[in-house]
This record gives sequence, C-alpha cells and structure tokens, in this order.
Amino acid sequence: MTERILVFYGSYRSDRMGIRLANFVVKGLRERGADAELIDAKAIGLPMLDRMRKEYPKGEAPAAMEDLAQKIIAADGFVFVTGEYNWGLQPGLKNLTDHYLEEWFWRPAAIASYSAGRFSGARAALAWHGTLSEMGMVVTSATIAVGPISQTLSAASEPTGPGGEALVKSFPRFADDLMWWVEAAKAHRARKLPPY
Ligand SMILES: Cc1cc2nc3c(=O)[nH]c(=O)nc-3n(C[C@H](O)[C@H](O)[C@H](O)COP(=O)(O)O)c2cc1C
Repeated sequence: MTERILVFYGSYRSDRMGIRLANFVVKGLRERGADAELIDAKAIGLPMLDRMRKEYPKGEAPAAMEDLAQKIIAADGFVFVTGEYNWGLQPGLKNLTDHYLEEWFWRPAAIASYSAGRFSGARAALAWHGTLSEMGMVVTSATIAVGPISQTLSAASEPTGPGGEALVKSFPRFADDLMWWVEAAKAHRARKLPPY
C-alpha cells in the first residue's frame, strides 16, 4: 500500500525561498512511490493560535483546521521543511503545528532545514527535534541541510551547482530512513493499537 507523507512548510514571507526545498522533497518522495503532499501553512492560513482543534466543541473547529486534522490523522509520516529566523523556528509553521497534539502521535517525522547562509538552518532543525518529539513523533536520524538555498535549488526546485549535487546525494538516505520508520510504525499500528 502507498505510504501517505505530508510535507510541511511554514514561511509566510512574500519572497520566501524554502518553498524550493519543500517542492524538491515532495517530488523526490513521489518519485520513490510515496503519496506525498505539500502542506503550505501560508495557504492553509490557520489563525494565530487561540483554541487548539480539540478545544472546540466537536464538529465546530474551522473547516481548514478540521480538514488538516483529518489529513494529519490519516498520514503515515511527516517531513518538516524548516528555515531559521534568528536561530529559532519559523512562527508560521510552529503556529500550525500547535493547533494539534494527539493528531500527530505514533508516526515518524523527518527534518529538512535550509537557510540563506552556510549554517543551513541547523539551529532551527535542532529546535524542531525536541518540539516534534514532544508532539509524539519519532524524529528520524537522517536530515537534510541546505545552504545557501539560493545556490542549491533554482526557482523551479532544480538542483544547481555543488550544493545541488550534495543535496541530490543526501536525499536517498534521508528518504530511506523516513520510509523505513514509516513502514515499521504502520505495520506495528496494524498489529497493536497505540496504548493511548
Ligand atoms: C526574520 C529573519 C531572521 C533570520 N535569521 C536567520 C538566522 O538566524 N540564521 C540564518 O541562517 N538565516 C537567517 N535568516 C535568513 C534566512 O535563512 C533566509 O531569509 C531564508 O530564505 C528564510 O526562509 P524563507 O525564505 O523560506 O522564509 C533570517 C531571515 C529572516 C527573515
């Protein structure tokens, strides 16, 4: 059966660059047979966190929040494509994730980071690791780190130059790690219901 992977990206900037990496990841996963979908926080447009989805009376959460909840619940795994603002998380993506909690549980998540410079968003990737773990995901070991993103992926998400070559080389291990855990978690959920 095809694995369903959601690829999250959360920059709200008009001139955002990380969408290049998000599209690259979606394409790469699809080429490996996964049913991957881009979840663009800006396009979904959840409000600044007031009530989490579970804090609404049943059936009364806004439609966009509920639709995304159903996608998260049905997914087999996640990728978080993250840039770095002042050594920290991008608020748009963090805001989206905070609307949910149990919806995320018992699935693996992989982190792909990027930045305008050579640190490749590594500090944000580190921060996401603890956050995703707190939200019940198993964070995979193989990461992608892209920087400078403008010299690594074109506007059409095509790899360019030595950075692009390195990205193409690192992608199989990243995807293999995620998909191994996706398969393992899926098989185990089918054998035994999660304990809570
Ligand atoms: C508010 C802000 C803070 C930033 N802070 C960092 C930073 O701490 N480290 C870094 O490597 N790049 C930093 N940058 C540069 C980003 O890596 C670059 O703008 C990147 O393209 C942002 O992702 P986005 O284009 O998808 O929004 C910052 C950019 C912005 C707008």
